[in-house]
Amino acid sequence: MTRTLIFVLLTAGVCLAQDHGQGPRSSVEPVNPFTGQKQAIDAGERRFKQSCAACHGPEAEGGRGPNLAENADLQTMSDGQLFHTIQQGIPGTAMPPSYLPDNDTWEVAAFLRSLNDPISENPVAGDAEAGRKLYYGAAHCGDCHAIRGQGGFLGSDLSNVGARMTAKQLRQAIVNPDASPHIGFEPVSVIRKDGMEFKGVARNNSNYSIQIIDTKGTLHMFDKSDLKEIVFDDKSFMPDNYRQTLGPDGINNIMAFLAQQVARPGTKRPRRPGQANQ
Ligand code: HEC
Ligand code: HEC
Repeated sequence: MTRTLIFVLLTAGVCLAQDHGQGPRSSVEPVNPFTGQKQAIDAGERRFKQSCAACHGPEAEGGRGPNLAENADLQTMSDGQLFHTIQQGIPGTAMPPSYLPDNDTWEVAAFLRSLNDPISENPVAGDAEAGRKLYYGAAHCGDCHAIRGQGGFLGSDLSNVGARMTAKQLRQAIVNPDASPHIGFEPVSVIRKDGMEFKGVARNNSNYSIQIIDTKGTLHMFDKSDLKEIVFDDKSFMPDNYRQTLGPDGINNIMAFLAQQVARPGTKRPRRPGQANQ
């Protein structure tokens, strides 16, 4: 009985403590009015560079304070908790209160969300229809990547890419494919004992056999005893000059198209219920 009462009081205290935000006062958990809004995210980024970058790094990559991009804590933190942390700091640590006005606080929070949430929840400003045309046309993405069964198989399946990558990760994957290891897609070329050469990505590679998807998308299986040579390469098959060939608009358009590729629309990452920080 007493414990229930204390719990109720605590919960009420937490709600009051967090109710700095806009929106209806009756809502238990404040919701960031700016999530996914490009202008607010950009404003939040500028504010972040002024007020936070000294400790968290200009790209939120971390420094004296922790990395705030692809940060597991942030991914599950509720909007209210994030707001409270930014405005009030974390007592007893080097994270100071910012005392930013509510609107600015939500903007910074929206910016941080964009570094952690999948791109489907933080759309980039681009023309998705123009992006779709580029994807299947001039940019040839569809030659190597399938979306719901349509397209090639040399690269990964992008049917759910909107739900599994942040905008930043996606942009990076497009403009700089060699920046991350090619796990599951190691470029390889093999020469068979009869002199035939095959190039592609390695799929299953065991002591005795290797499977390769060649650049046309055909799967080949080899006994290693039939091969004269196996050479792995660091260079992805994916072109590394999209920044130049597509330009910023082209890349934004393709990203807007890919942001819509979600296998199960409407499913969002769960957040912890609201709690005050310490
Ligand atoms: C003086 C350095 C400093 C400044 C300035 C600063 N922070 Fe921090 N921040 C920290 C430190 C250190 C921590 C880790 C605290 C801890 O030990 O839990 C932290 C933690 C955080 C966390 C929680 C991260 C997590 O993984 O739980 C968030 C969110 C955050 N800061 C956002 C901001 C924002 C937004 C700003 C600017 C308005 C800002 N910080 C300014 C040092 C700073
Ligand atoms: C010639 C084949 C080819 C073309 C063309 C190509 N890619 Fe790729 N892509 C790959 C391969 C292979 C990988 C696998 C990882 C690697 O090599 O780094 C990859 C990786 C990716 C990834 C990371 C995937 C993941 O699942 O984590 C994304 C996103 C991506 N490509 C998007 C694109 C887009 C968008 C285009 C067009 C602008 C494109 N690719 C054009 C072959 C290609």
